[in-house]
Amino acid sequence: MTESLGVNDTFPRGGRRLSDPAVNAVTGELVGRKAYLVGTGHCVPDRVLTNKDLEQIVDTSDEWITTRTGIKERRITNDQTSTSDLAIVAVEEALEMAGWGPKDVDCMIVATVTPDYIFPSTAAIVSDKLGMNNIPAYDFEAGCSGFIYGLIQAKCFIGSGMLDRVVVLGAECLTKITNWEDRTTCVLFGDGAGAAAIGPEGPGGELGGWHWGSDGSLGDLLELPAGGSRKPASKETVKANEHTLRMKGNETFKYAVRAMRDSCLKALDMDGTPKSEVDLLVPHQANYRIIDATARALELRPEQVYVNIDKYGNTSAASIPMALDEAVRKGEVTPPKNVVLAAFGAGLTWAGMLLKWKEEEGL
Ligand code: ACO
Repeated sequence: MTESLGVNDTFPRGGRRLSDPAVNAVTGELVGRKAYLVGTGHCVPDRVLTNKDLEQIVDTSDEWITTRTGIKERRITNDQTSTSDLAIVAVEEALEMAGWGPKDVDCMIVATVTPDYIFPSTAAIVSDKLGMNNIPAYDFEAGCSGFIYGLIQAKCFIGSGMLDRVVVLGAECLTKITNWEDRTTCVLFGDGAGAAAIGPEGPGGELGGWHWGSDGSLGDLLELPAGGSRKPASKETVKANEHTLRMKGNETFKYAVRAMRDSCLKALDMDGTPKSEVDLLVPHQANYRIIDATARALELRPEQVYVNIDKYGNTSAASIPMALDEAVRKGEVTPPKNVVLAAFGAGLTWAGMLLKWKEEEGL
């Protein structure tokens, strides 16, 4: 196992904890604003693909998929629908909950490994279609950890005073890069989008301590081999099915368990919040066994873990914002609540963040 995975113990900015305020050396004033999650939304396509349906496509069984992963069904897009179509609906819902109009948004960030195009960015397409004000809009790719990476960026923008209102999205059409002849991967993935509106004022969930990291030496565990500048699209790459996802699932599994656990614990440590004060875990939904191991590391009871992998499978960067939106709308985030997010994915990447809903600070 690579030394760096999940063990970069030093805090950013020289070991400063979040509870230590930064002070402007000249004026003596406190620097840095808080950032709050004030709206969420999500969208999945209507079409359901069950484990039973998959039994007709590859040599698998509902029993194998359920016991190994916890997945019962997933949603899949049709030929006419792309990532931006799902993203637009998710953003509309998040804006409505936040009470913002499209022209209130200062920046849109989309985490995705399945953008509509390599360029233009899905973020630019979404912000244009929603009538936003020529705002900065960009995609970035951090695998399944992308949504938390996006929250960390939004926290920096808002905390520094650079921007006021940021929309962070995780949006994916993974079934468009699925090899439907490979039973080891095609049973795992689904499509969906989730969005969060982040601003400088509550009420809402304060973006607290975080942890993020990557280890590129393990990149070949989970990859899309062709279509980039290393191996451009050609007749040969199409014939070899190299425009579809490949994963060494078993090896990925053991890193996932450790990285998810360490990301949570380090985010809590940075925040100065003990794990005994965590109320809810909203994990990346890759495999129920990975979720269960993360919950046990935090000593959480099953009802303190939000799980929807049975309905949607692994939707990569979209999985946490989709689950978070469901939890919020079901009333599972009624304040006071400390909610931990944890993710792990292609790169390899990993990330964790604590969201803190204080008393009187519902969404
Ligand atoms: N149906 C039936 N049998 C299957 C299937 C299937 N769909 N897939 C694999 N098998 C077989 C294998 O061929 C193997 O058979 P063998 O023993 O005869 O060779 C057996 O089942 C066991 O295979 P394993 O790969 O060891 O199964 P495992 O228990 O590890 O489960 C899984 C596989 C579900 C993929 C698991 O390893 C996993 O969840 N890995 C982590 C995934 C993850 O976290 N990915 C990161 C995020 S994704 C992203 O970033 C886009």
